[in-house]
Amino acid sequence: MRVLIIGGTGFLSSALVAQSVAEGHQVTVLTRGRSARPVPEGIEALTANRSEPGLLREALQERSFDLVLDAILYRPDDARAAVEIFRGRVARYVFISTDFVYGGEPRIFPLSEDAPRRALSRYGRDKAACEDIFFDAWERERFPVTILRPPHILGAGGHLGTGSREGRDPWLLWRLRGAHAVCLLEGGALLIPPVHRDDIARACFAVAQSEKALGRAYNIAGPDCVTTKRYYELVAEIAGAPPPTMLSLPAAAFVAAFPDQAPFTQNRAYALDRLQADTGFAPTVRLPDALAEMVADLDARGLPQGPPPETETPLVTLLRAQAEAVTEALRGA
Ligand SMILES: NC(=O)c1ccc[n+]([C@@H]2O[C@H](COP(=O)([O-])OP(=O)(O)OC[C@H]3O[C@@H](n4cnc5c(N)ncnc54)[C@H](OP(=O)(O)O)[C@@H]3O)[C@@H](O)[C@H]2O)c1
Repeated sequence: MRVLIIGGTGFLSSALVAQSVAEGHQVTVLTRGRSARPVPEGIEALTANRSEPGLLREALQERSFDLVLDAILYRPDDARAAVEIFRGRVARYVFISTDFVYGGEPRIFPLSEDAPRRALSRYGRDKAACEDIFFDAWERERFPVTILRPPHILGAGGHLGTGSREGRDPWLLWRLRGAHAVCLLEGGALLIPPVHRDDIARACFAVAQSEKALGRAYNIAGPDCVTTKRYYELVAEIAGAPPPTMLSLPAAAFVAAFPDQAPFTQNRAYALDRLQADTGFAPTVRLPDALAEMVADLDARGLPQGPPPETETPLVTLLRAQAEAVTEALRGA
């Protein structure tokens, strides 16, 4: 197949390139040419800012593709431009969306693809708006789109951490190995099914080969759905650190301070049966293996060694004192 990857040198998109090459496809990537990651040898590289439709069109010239994997689309204007530009010259267009399109009630776990999409952040709302442009293009003119909604993505080259004050945290291994506290939203009771980027890459080709996947969206989560507390315990175990000291950060206070971070306070548990029924594909990379790959990669990269700027913040002191005060109050009640 002739495959175009929009992005191609990013954290996720480099895995899409690797999978395309492994499957023997003829691969083209389109980037602005700024990324530190090089385009692998033997791959055609086009240069354009995809948010400038004139330049995108010019870079693509008259090319057509069997498959476009769009790994770097955030703006509804860019989705509209993609429909215009790729109309009639692509057999399948896979848009990498996000689980942050979900939000609102009623939520029945695990969430199916039909769950409400009242997204809680600008990022999620824009991705949902992009999805709607593609759904509409499928309904109106059979634009051959399929949408994938990954949650927290894992793989070498990235950072670890989710459902916490820090989120992706370059200092996480330093914190855990030094027995420093981590502040977890709702005490780490939130559900998360991290997905390895190689499973997303395989899912792209699975949906691309399925007629049933035309005009549809799919969850693509990992096979293991755990609490965020378990995620940090696993990282600590793999990193040879002591069991983590976890402080509970109330979600309501966190959202009041950072409204656009609200999606991180949701339970993120997703049904995968539609993906399997329509494509025969199910993700296989187990969470401990994905985390072990990342810990080894972070150690190999050796960064960072020193303490973060905000070690032992007033927040840590406050959360400790608050937890003790609540315990005292309960005992006295
Ligand atoms: N990370 C997660 O946990 C997560 C979760 C859910 C969904 N997602 C989705 O996964 C995708 C992220 O992919 P990624 O990790 O590969 O992103 P990334 O690491 O930010 O990589 C971006 C890639 O796109 C290129 N690029 C950036 N802006 C561009 C532009 N305007 N025009 C053309 N190329 C551009 C970059 O190269 P140049 O800089 O050289 O242009 C690079 O190749 C996004 O769609 C995101 O919404 C991520």
